[in-house]
Amino acid sequence: MAGKIPRDFIDDLLSRTDVVDIVDSRVKLKKAGKNYQACCPFHNEKSPSFTVSQEKQFYHCFGCGAHGNAISFMMEFDRLEFVEAIEELARFHGLEVPREKGSRPAMSEEKKQQQLDDYSLMDQVARFFQQQLRQNSNSEKAINYLKQRGLSGDIVKQWEIGYAPDSWDALLNTFGKSPDKVKQLIDLKLVNQNDQGRRYDFFRDRIMFPIRDKRGRVVGFGGRVLDDGGPKYLNSPETRIFHKGSELFGFYHARQQNRQLDTVVIVEGYMDVVALSQFDINIATAALGTATTPEHIQMLVRATSHIVCCYDGDRAGREAAWRALENALPALKDGVRLSFLFLPDGEDPDTMVRQVGKEAFMTMLDSAMPLSRFFFENLLKTHNVGTPEGKRALKNAALPLIEGVLGDDQKQMLLEELAKHTGEYDRFKLQQDISKANNAGRKPGYSPNLNQVGKTRLSPLRMLIRLLLDMPSLATRCQEVQPGVFAGSQAAGMDLLLAVHQYCTQHPHATTAQLVENFRDHPHSPTIAKLLLQEHLVKDEDAERVYTDSFARLLDWHFDSRIETLISRSRVQPLSKAEKEELNLLMKERQKS
Ligand code: GTP
Ligand code: MN
Repeated sequence: MAGKIPRDFIDDLLSRTDVVDIVDSRVKLKKAGKNYQACCPFHNEKSPSFTVSQEKQFYHCFGCGAHGNAISFMMEFDRLEFVEAIEELARFHGLEVPREKGSRPAMSEEKKQQQLDDYSLMDQVARFFQQQLRQNSNSEKAINYLKQRGLSGDIVKQWEIGYAPDSWDALLNTFGKSPDKVKQLIDLKLVNQNDQGRRYDFFRDRIMFPIRDKRGRVVGFGGRVLDDGGPKYLNSPETRIFHKGSELFGFYHARQQNRQLDTVVIVEGYMDVVALSQFDINIATAALGTATTPEHIQMLVRATSHIVCCYDGDRAGREAAWRALENALPALKDGVRLSFLFLPDGEDPDTMVRQVGKEAFMTMLDSAMPLSRFFFENLLKTHNVGTPEGKRALKNAALPLIEGVLGDDQKQMLLEELAKHTGEYDRFKLQQDISKANNAGRKPGYSPNLNQVGKTRLSPLRMLIRLLLDMPSLATRCQEVQPGVFAGSQAAGMDLLLAVHQYCTQHPHATTAQLVENFRDHPHSPTIAKLLLQEHLVKDEDAERVYTDSFARLLDWHFDSRIETLISRSRVQPLSKAEKEELNLLMKERQKS
């Protein structure tokens, strides 16, 4: 693992970056007053509620709550990891990303170089296979096979499909020019070495599909036989650059082809992905000869709002679909729809789309079976809810799965369905009403409905934090506001106020974007996110006044509560001298205001 990226560098990067440029190059922005606006790229909407502030270097959607700085935008929109987004921005500015020598040692130069060499070799090998498809003595056979499978020349080129020669050492001889290179070929599992030390090409006489990772680098291959001999598919084993559980065949392609991926389809085979793309359906991905993993789903829920698992309608297909469902639930956040499409027996997406064409296939995707239906249909096959025992068994089987669902709304939806099947619907509804009523009495600030969050009134403490988030310079402009006097107070949120105020005092010229960046991994980062969603409606010119007023109100509140504490303590035991003095002082202060 690489060492940490220094905070200063990230701040510097943010100060060189204009979030407006970053967003505008991906989503066309329109000037609206001081800010810029667009239809939100993170949810479907007709009128723009996505706002970018140049001054604060921050974006915010009042519709779905998406918000953040240039780094967050690149993470969400380009679906990059944090470090990838930093690297991308650094590249954009022509900077090298420095690494701290810390607990985690930086990736050594040697290791970095090796990784580059690995990707480069994989790329050359992919091109070698492509070239063999045209030039090998078996090329006619291979091309005929692809033709017979109905693939066009364009599609073969687009997917860089190739041919591995029918030879034990074609690859070995082409690329294994030195002992180091041979070792690399073995490490990348392109060449096998048997117990006797004999080396030979791993893929022979096969149609080759290069597998690209999320960032488009070739990390492995899938190879298909041309006839019926041997295992139908041979996939690259795991290597230092190939991790099957976290890559999907076709995902990179799908992301390249679609600015926004409304739907992603998970199919079983490489051929399915390729055939669908020939029919201009560029939203298919396939697991790499393994089951769909939780990581796969995690990757997809970040990229799309609708995942369709497409399987054969036979028993094996339903079982695979159920496994996908089990792996999907823990990653299934609200706002992402999961559905299941079961094809007629004996068909796969490849044969299906060739029969019915694009339109009909898209219609099938649209009308795929919703999660709740597949979930209960499958469970009801083994549990007969006609008896009390069956109802209980259904509950026992369903509850652990439902409890694991990530999204609260999705969880509630499944619980509601379960209650219907077990005849406890009335009780379920009653419980829901009770908890709703309880929630209504909760403190402001907590509400799952974002539109309501935007309108809640802010307590003085929250207002202080909120204003600092907007204008870090307030901390140095208003010297009379010194939240330090509350140090030691147990009030909820006080520690966050102190931390934010301290940051702003030390970084008076920080933007909201930099501040938020500083708190990205802070335990309070979710609170900051929530606060940013709350509109305070304070005009810029009123900010200083509201800021100092809020502080005064907070002081009052603090004094009051301290006075109360001291008085009630004095009823049980005599106060110490210091406490008496404090109480006197507090009472005097109180009378002044
Ligand atoms: P075609 O017969 O070429 O149409 O294959 P397909 O794309 O329809 O694939 P299929 O549904 O038969 O298999 C789905 C996936 O499972 C393949 O893409 C492979 O990743 C994997 N797979 C299939 N057969 C084998 C095999 O014999 N060995 C291994 N390791 N994986 C296989
Ligand atoms: Mn097939």
